Amino acid sequence: MTVEKMRDYLYHLPEQFAESLKMEFDFVEDYRSAYENIVVSGLGGSAIGGDILRTFALQKASIPVVVNRDYNLPAFVGEKTLFYAVSYSGNTEETLSAYRQARERGAAIVCFSSGGELEKMARLDGKPVVKVPTGLVPRAATGYLFAPLVLLLEKLGIVAGARDELGECVLVLRDIRDSLHPEIEIEKNPAKKIARELKDSIPIIWGSSGISEVAALRWKAQINENAKSPAYYHVFPELNHNEIVGFEVPAELVSRLFVVILKDRFDHERVKRRMAISRDIIKQRVKGFVEVESRGESFLARLYSLCYTGDYASFYLALENGINPTPVALIDYLKAELA
Ligand code: F6R
Repeated sequence: MTVEKMRDYLYHLPEQFAESLKMEFDFVEDYRSAYENIVVSGLGGSAIGGDILRTFALQKASIPVVVNRDYNLPAFVGEKTLFYAVSYSGNTEETLSAYRQARERGAAIVCFSSGGELEKMARLDGKPVVKVPTGLVPRAATGYLFAPLVLLLEKLGIVAGARDELGECVLVLRDIRDSLHPEIEIEKNPAKKIARELKDSIPIIWGSSGISEVAALRWKAQINENAKSPAYYHVFPELNHNEIVGFEVPAELVSRLFVVILKDRFDHERVKRRMAISRDIIKQRVKGFVEVESRGESFLARLYSLCYTGDYASFYLALENGINPTPVALIDYLKAELA
């Protein structure tokens, strides 16, 4: 896999949303039911779409979405559960195990995958599989691994507004990439600037419990997987009750940290105040910090605008580190050892 591949995946993220908007779900009539909860099982790049769905549903749905990243399902999963099994490869053992448990408990199951064991099992069981295109890597298929999940919920009448919000995502992300893509020089390219500052640092990403919690997790995971660097994240207001104290330790440790603060104009007013005070506490101690503001109007556009800057920053950090962003040798090694 070449560097150019990841560059192209990043560039075409808005088109993943545009394509997903054309999807039909021919099984939808069979899935209309009074669900009590929705559970999304997935790991890594296949789980983050579930997290976005969870935060979207907190605002728009009357039933909860729970993300399960484990072999075992929560005790409440049963016949009143709509269960999404999400695995790009279709071969992730935790997701396969959760699928089997959901089947045993009589949940209504829908799979999202490019193939693998999951597709085979689902076809044998007569469960629908929403196909994700092959030839990508999971974290680069994030549009395909989120948009269909929420669009199906909209068709089922569980959430409203997703279609319009995804439409706005397409426009906002196309606009943002004009300033982030590789031809734009560093002075005018915020993602390149951040990557330069993150080099030789330990990135700490701060979001807030509202919109940017998942964006902060996405930044962290993208820096891990693309740049092969450690990175950590936390959210306001919780981090003011523990993590902030950690900045008191010996200066030589803290001076390697570079803090990225993800901001949204709809953050709670008290969170905005907490962000400002916390920034002032850390600014003399850490190597540096940067604030990134969301763009767009709708929840999904604002959230993805934050993620997209992180996607590009992690890509440029890989280049700064002289590393190919695409392969994830240690994940592959672990999966092989466990096989
Ligand atoms: C992301 C990545 C991993 C996988 C995870 C689960 O690019 O490689 O985070 O997403 O190991 O695998 P899948 O997505 O195939 O179920």
